[in-house]
Amino acid sequence: MIDLDGAMIGAVQLERRDLDYEVRQAAGSVDLGNLLLPEAWGRGYATEACAAALVWFADALPGEAVVLTTQTANEPSMRLAARLGFVEVERFEAYDAEQWFGSWTPPASAG
Ligand SMILES: CC(C)(COP(=O)(O)OP(=O)(O)OC[C@H]1O[C@@H](n2cnc3c(N)ncnc32)[C@H](O)[C@@H]1OP(=O)(O)O)[C@@H](O)C(=O)NCCC(=O)NCCS
Repeated sequence: MIDLDGAMIGAVQLERRDLDYEVRQAAGSVDLGNLLLPEAWGRGYATEACAAALVWFADALPGEAVVLTTQTANEPSMRLAARLGFVEVERFEAYDAEQWFGSWTPPASAG
């Protein structure tokens, strides 16, 4: 949950999934999901919360990639993925829309 001064404004989810397609399986199997209540959009809260979740994840499961899927038409979500450092693996059609599938690789440990 994303908490702002005691109020729930959204959620970040890291979920291991069985991906149905070889290219996506190779990129990683832990999926990042995110959702903010509309009144909390446009202030950087999703970026802050997702970045914190990725720092936690990199510590919990060192070296493991995280993947993310969003419709290309979802411009805020595409911008969020780019800000977080996700890079495109492929685009595909599903649910009557073009989907963007990207992967995030944890930074190399400083040692
Ligand atoms: C995807 C979603 C979480 C993105 O929300 P968001 O508000 O655009 O993202 P952030 O909270 O990180 O805010 C970033 C925006 O705030 C702006 N911003 C304003 N003040 C800021 C500040 N102090 N610090 C950081 N960013 C700030 C940034 O410039 C950025 O705007 P831009 O994308 O127009 O450049 C939101 O659109 C959402 O919940 N959508 C519905 C669910 C959904 O589609 N989820 C993804 C499914 S895959």
